[in-house]
Order: sequence, then C-alpha cells, then structure tokens
Amino acid sequence: MKPSGEDQAAPAAGPWEECFQAAVQLALRAGQIIRKALTEEKRVSTKTSAADLVTETDHLVEDLIISELRERFPSHRFIAEEAAASGAKCVLTHSPTWIIDPIDGTCNFVHRFPTVAVSIGFAVRQELEFGVIYHCTEERLYTGRRGRGAFCNGQRLRVSGETEMESHHLAQAGLELMASDLSKALVLTEIGPKRDPATLKLFLSNMERLLHAKAHGVRVIGSSTLALCHLASGAADAYYQFGLHCWDLAAATVIIREAGGIVIDTSGGPLDLMACRVVAASTREMAMLIAQALQTINYGRDDEK
Ligand code: IPD
Repeated sequence: MKPSGEDQAAPAAGPWEECFQAAVQLALRAGQIIRKALTEEKRVSTKTSAADLVTETDHLVEDLIISELRERFPSHRFIAEEAAASGAKCVLTHSPTWIIDPIDGTCNFVHRFPTVAVSIGFAVRQELEFGVIYHCTEERLYTGRRGRGAFCNGQRLRVSGETEMESHHLAQAGLELMASDLSKALVLTEIGPKRDPATLKLFLSNMERLLHAKAHGVRVIGSSTLALCHLASGAADAYYQFGLHCWDLAAATVIIREAGGIVIDTSGGPLDLMACRVVAASTREMAMLIAQALQTINYGRDDEK
C-alpha cells in the first residue's frame, strides 16, 4: 500500500495537526526527488571524514523543506543536517523547532543502495511532539505523535516486546538478560563517521561484546533512522550507536516511544538528544543491558559544535 498522507490512522486533530500534515506532505515530496536522483549521477563532497558524505540532493531537499515550512510557520526554528555542516548552531530552545535530516543514508544514496530516508522531527518546549520518516524507495511512511501512536502506511507499529506472547518471551529473556545474556535479540547499529584506528577498535569491540552476550545477530544497514524504524516495527529488538546526530534521532525517538519502545542514553540515563549517542530497545531491561556492555566512543555534542 502506498502512503498518501490521508491514510494515517490518525485520531482527532491535536494542537500541532497542521504542522504534522505539512511534515507528511513534505516528506512525500522530498522522497520523490530522492527516489528519482538515486540512480542519477551525483556530485559528492565530504564533510567531517572521508565517510561523511553530502550531495547536491541533500542540499536541494533540505532547502525545499525549510523554505516551505518557514513560509507557513515563520516563528518556528530549525535544526538541519546540512545547515549545521555549514556552521549553523544546533540549539534546542522552548520555541517550536523542526529537526530535519534531508537524506538519512547519504552513503547508501551515493552508492545507489536503496535504503534512504527523509526524517522530520518536531519539538516544542524541548519535548518531541511528532516524527515523520519516509523510506524513499520502499515508499513506507513512518509517523509517531506523542500520546497518539506510531504508524507505518496507516498500520499501527509495535516493538517486539508488545504483544502478549512476545512480552512473555521477553520477560523470560529479561531474566536471561540479568544473567548478561542478549540471547535471541537482533541488534542494529551504525558505524558512525569516524574511522581512526582507536574509534574503529572501540566500535568492533562493542560489537564483539554483544555477540559474546549471544545476540542472534548484529546488522548495519547504513541509515540510522530506518534502523530505528525497524526496531519500532518489531523487526529488530535493539539499536545502539555513537556518532549519530539529533536529526538522526528526533523523529525516530517519537516513533519508537509510541510503538512501546525505550530510548535512552548510552550511560543508562535519560536520552540526551544532543549527546550523539543512543541505546533504543523493545524493553528497558534490554536497553540497560546493552548500555552496560558498551564502551563509550566520544563524538562530542551537537550543541557544542
Ligand atoms: C548517517 C547515517 C549513518 C550513521 C551516521 C548518520 P546521514 O546519516 O544514518 O548510517 O552511521 O551516524 O549520521 O549522514 O546519511 O544523514
């Protein structure tokens, strides 16, 4: 089923309804542009490392989304990936703020690997209100609104721990987890942009720790937002990463929370959207176990760059 923007199983309109609908329409429009550009020639530049890429389509899509939103909501603020790369400050104030990743999975996009998304999050008084993520090639529209559920193309999303049978299964797994065991979990992660030997050593050692804890598998798909959507859909049980940004996390966090999942800091404390690190899981037990297993990779903070 293709997303239309009308097929969201939406409850009655809330205070940010107009903003939410605008985000949905813009994500669909941006998705069309990205889908078309995927197989065309691209001009590719690097940012913080040789693996941190940007194309003219990232800029085109970000400019389109921001200019349309600014015209409709002139008092709102924006945090966006390519603006930040050009030196704009990432500061989350109490004002309504849009947090935008025009193409998540730019490296995939450059290689024509069809796992790419547009991500639009929205926060008010520093609280995430809604998130819209559009998987451009599979035409899957993921949405989450605070207190109003998470959906993919109109179908309600639930993390793997949510159904009665699975929560029983995970309750058992929870006991196993207490014994330092990630048995039966499918875990997702992303490599992050730093590739110096010390960072790679920590990245590989973290993966090794989770495999020693008997995770069924560890997957790297090249798009943190879509990996987080897989967790929200119950197709994976956990996600962790060092080196992602607030625009990778904002929309996905609402979707996961509304699907019944947990999103925390790698320290085991509450999520800090600006801290460039995260653990998300279908249960708190699993999130805490992963947090305890991880060694920190320092990427600094988005609001201090
Ligand atoms: C990146 C991707 C990548 C992850 C990075 C993200 P971008 O986003 O999600 O998989 O490892 O941390 O920043 O640059 O493609 O928008």
